[in-house]
Amino acid sequence: MSLQMTNKILIVDDEMDTCLALSIYLQSEGFTCSLAADGSMAMQMLLKERDFSVVLLDICMPQLDGITALKLLQEANCDAAVIMMSGQGSEELAVECMRNGAEDYISKPFSPEDILQRIERARLNRLARLDKLRLEQEKEDFILMLSHDMKNPLTAVIGSIDIVREGCLGAVNPEQKEYLLAAIDSCNEVVTMIDNLLDIRKFEAGKMQMIPQPYLATELLGKVTGQFARVARHDGIALSVNLSPDDDMIAVDRHSFNRILGNLLGNALKFTPEGGEITVSSAQVFGHDAHTLGIPPSVTIAPLFFTPGRFIRIAVSDTGNGIPEDELNHIFERFTQVAKKSGREKGGAGMGLAYCRLAVESFHGVIWAESRAEQGSDFIMLFPCE
Ligand SMILES: Nc1ncnc2c1ncn2[C@@H]1O[C@H](COP(=O)(O)OP(=O)(O)O)[C@@H](O)[C@H]1O
Ligand SMILES: [Mg+2]
Repeated sequence: MSLQMTNKILIVDDEMDTCLALSIYLQSEGFTCSLAADGSMAMQMLLKERDFSVVLLDICMPQLDGITALKLLQEANCDAAVIMMSGQGSEELAVECMRNGAEDYISKPFSPEDILQRIERARLNRLARLDKLRLEQEKEDFILMLSHDMKNPLTAVIGSIDIVREGCLGAVNPEQKEYLLAAIDSCNEVVTMIDNLLDIRKFEAGKMQMIPQPYLATELLGKVTGQFARVARHDGIALSVNLSPDDDMIAVDRHSFNRILGNLLGNALKFTPEGGEITVSSAQVFGHDAHTLGIPPSVTIAPLFFTPGRFIRIAVSDTGNGIPEDELNHIFERFTQVAKKSGREKGGAGMGLAYCRLAVESFHGVIWAESRAEQGSDFIMLFPCE
């Protein structure tokens, strides 16, 4: 039997009669019970033997009361499910217990059936909670595996192909070059996917390190867009830039900004058929509030956008499939791809836009999508000017 399936219960109550009566009943129901007369004794037992599945914790006790013990248990990462028991039950007290991590709350006196039912439910909830934690740990391990075991060899593959492509190992004809470039593009797509995933995790763990510095927006935009010119030509798509003459500074991390734009352009290329057009544009805009800036009401924005200010508006527009109205917000969530004309059949894992949103917001910007059904999409970003 695994530790998780333990049927050990700790009963904590300063009234010994209650403790004993409860333990006799619960043992008759197949549980193994231990008793503690106050909070500090309970803490000692719980921290020493970590295999209790449920704690029945009285609230009013001498020395260490139940609420304090509950808080200490949470801090110590004790994974037992705690059911609080109180003689002077009140709604506020119950709420406080739940807020501090209790699984359940019961007022004394209670019937044996009632407590038994709550214990069963608490055990099930605890198992579900532990299962979720285990899954999260597995996910974490998998992501680490991705970063080390997949990204590094892939970068090496790109390097090797590039050496051949450059003709360092002998002459390469134009057709061969074309194939080698396509191989590099595909590898880079996977690297981008891994980078997106890893960075989303870093953002979530609060470990993302950005070094925002002021850059001329047009310079940043021109460079990245230029990098996509070859692929666009290859796909028969017209890629143009239409940059603001008012050259303004925005404070961003250069590497991250390139990745944001790279994701947006990568999507635009992916979802625009041959013969289509993609435009990257920028303009200076003055806003007084979210409405004058054209931010749709459904987009959550920082207070900054409710006050007058100068912003750079950057848009990546395409003449592709478009995005259904009801999906416009969801596509920024992780692993989300529009059901029908999904990116899945075109590759991708639905993480690019999630990365974009986290990164744009870290630069105090906002990003949203607009779409004309079947006629193309606009991805719009606003950044405060420096
Ligand atoms: N320019 C676009 N045109 C049409 N649909 C798009 C466009 N950009 C994104 N989408 C939709 O949003 C989804 C999520 O995009 P993204 O997060 O970059 O993931 P991925 O590219 O891996 O599918 C895509 O799968 C697609 O359904
Ligand atoms: Mg994408």
